[in-house]
Amino acid sequence: MRNFGAAVAAAAIFSKAALAAVDPIVIKGSKFFYQTNGTQFFMKGIAYQQEYAPNGGSTSANSTNTDYTDPISDSSSCERDIPYLQQLGTNVIRVYAIDPTQSHDKCMNALADAGIYVIADLSAPGQSIIRSSPSWNDDLYTRYTTVVDALAGYTNTLGFFAGNEVTNNATNTDASAFVKAAVRDTKAYIKQKNYRTIGVGYATSDDADIREQVADYFDCGNDRASAIDFWGYNIYSWCGNSTYEESGFDQRTAEFLNYNVPVFFAEYGCNEVEPRTFTEVEALYGDQMSPVWSGGIVYMYFQEANNYGLVSVSGNSVSTLADFGYLSRQIAAVTPSSVNSADYNPTNTAAAACPSVGSQWAASNNLPPTPNRELCQCMYSALTCVPHDISLEEAGDLFGTVCGLGANSDVCAGITNNATTGNYGAYGMCNATEQLGWALNAYYLAQPGNNRASACDFGGSATTKASVSPTGQCKSLIAEAGPQGTGTVTSAPTATGGSSGSRSSGSGSGSGSGSGNAAPRVGSKAVFGTEIAIATYLSLAFVSGVCMIFL
Ligand SMILES: *[C@@H]1O[C@H](CO)[C@@H](O)[C@H](O)[C@H]1NC(C)=O
Ligand SMILES: *[C@@H]1O[C@H](CO)[C@@H](O)[C@H](O)[C@H]1NC(C)=O
Ligand SMILES: *[C@@H]1O[C@H](CO)[C@@H](O)[C@H](O)[C@H]1NC(C)=O
Ligand SMILES: *[C@@H]1O[C@H](CO)[C@@H](O)[C@H](O)[C@H]1NC(C)=O
Ligand SMILES: *[C@@H]1O[C@H](CO)[C@@H](O)[C@H](O)[C@H]1NC(C)=O
Ligand SMILES: *[C@@H]1O[C@H](CO)[C@@H](O)[C@H](O)[C@H]1NC(C)=O
Repeated sequence: MRNFGAAVAAAAIFSKAALAAVDPIVIKGSKFFYQTNGTQFFMKGIAYQQEYAPNGGSTSANSTNTDYTDPISDSSSCERDIPYLQQLGTNVIRVYAIDPTQSHDKCMNALADAGIYVIADLSAPGQSIIRSSPSWNDDLYTRYTTVVDALAGYTNTLGFFAGNEVTNNATNTDASAFVKAAVRDTKAYIKQKNYRTIGVGYATSDDADIREQVADYFDCGNDRASAIDFWGYNIYSWCGNSTYEESGFDQRTAEFLNYNVPVFFAEYGCNEVEPRTFTEVEALYGDQMSPVWSGGIVYMYFQEANNYGLVSVSGNSVSTLADFGYLSRQIAAVTPSSVNSADYNPTNTAAAACPSVGSQWAASNNLPPTPNRELCQCMYSALTCVPHDISLEEAGDLFGTVCGLGANSDVCAGITNNATTGNYGAYGMCNATEQLGWALNAYYLAQPGNNRASACDFGGSATTKASVSPTGQCKSLIAEAGPQGTGTVTSAPTATGGSSGSRSSGSGSGSGSGSGNAAPRVGSKAVFGTEIAIATYLSLAFVSGVCMIFL
């Protein structure tokens, strides 16, 4: 271990007050380029996100608003770490969870001054698409769009991940439909706000049984507005002195030869053999791989319990570990052969074919609807029968009851969320109260007039209220959704991330759990809460509905 005196370099980095500008990175075909001079851009990246240590760990976490540590809101840690990132030849960092309520000016500018770009995950612990009970809903839409708002203004924002390792085996492939909807809606939001074009992609884990399907799914179809702009691979198959063939890198490279958007390693650096000598770096940036891959991101900067660190940090001091020296020497030695944008005529122009739904793949190409908080609120205001303020368990039971009422099963059509059939109700992205209200109300209205009074009781869990007759925008949104809630709402959401102001609610179906996927190796630790998502109750209730005792 060595300690470097970082103070001098850091002072220089922070001397500029104005917003630093770097040349944005743009995508053409399956490669990245510096926008102005057209030089090809290969990622020499480092994952940069410290774990949150809730009770007195050594981190500088501020848990007032979040249960994670935003790695680029604290200028003193950027100041501390940038000189080390530079020694590693870093030109991009990957951050897994940022707090959109904080300012990122200082870190982003200091990174820009060091020629370092940022690729950011849009999710966060407790605010991600959960593979076992997936949903793409109002709360997640708000989270994603507020992160976009927070970072879109910096020229060194390189891209966003709409999901990380969500689908990870054949049992949860349906979750990919919700992530692809998130890709679509994030791209649309960037356009709607007239931000600079910033790519939106996905980071996958390396799962042999569904490798091909998942890569095809996110890229497939003629509707490029829903397709990823780049594909990130979290891959740990090269350990120690492995080889191009033994690691399977040869096959991965062959698989992506014709992929029509950039691909790169969104995480790499197996630690089964230590120290990590990073012999894969030579392969990744060498003649066989660099025509296909745009480099990669090493997991990760901070040494933590999972033992992937390049440095260990204690307060304001940084000690480099053995892996640090190996990586910096390997990176310094590479010279990937590149092409200038002007001379590059992409030949990989065809999108992948969509995987067909069957035993290995359960996500239809028909994607979930765009979350629209305004629509949900308009609908709820118009209801006559609504739930009382009830617990999650009670809500789950009630869903089971009302959706299980055989002859009246239509009452839940408006809140269906079935990615396999591609069948979605217009209100399936609303919050649990709103969804429940929709179903109870539909049941209530379906009863003959003389039974109605008692039909909105549900064992004392629901009550009637005055309906607000929809007018204006509410009226047209509700008309698009249709009387059964099975219509297609095409109006774009007007409430933008920042203005709907509910980032702290976190109680929609997006709440995280141990099986969430905000940050892979970070997230697999006990760091992220163990709340149970409402979505879990919903899906349980749907499944077990018929067994429930009717009220
Ligand atoms: C193009 O611009 C980038 C960033 O400004 C720079 O790093 C690179 O060296 C430039 N390429 C050439 C050929 O000058
Ligand atoms: C934590 O952040 C909040 C704002 O998000 C701020 O008001 C508070 O002072 C911070 N606390 C500490 C200890 O830094
Ligand atoms: C697939 O993932 C689920 C949880 O998401 C897990 O229970 C199951 O064991 C996994 N199956 C395989 C074959 O890995
Ligand atoms: C890996 O290869 C290097 C260089 O050939 C050698 O010095 C080292 O002992 C090897 N490590 C292992 C674990 O085989
Ligand atoms: C759910 O929706 C209802 C009705 O629009 C609203 O009053 C409530 O605040 C929402 N709950 C959450 C947790 O966002
Ligand atoms: C979707 O619908 C199919 C066919 O009805 C059914 O088998 C499957 O269980 C449903 N999936 C979910 C998540 O409800």
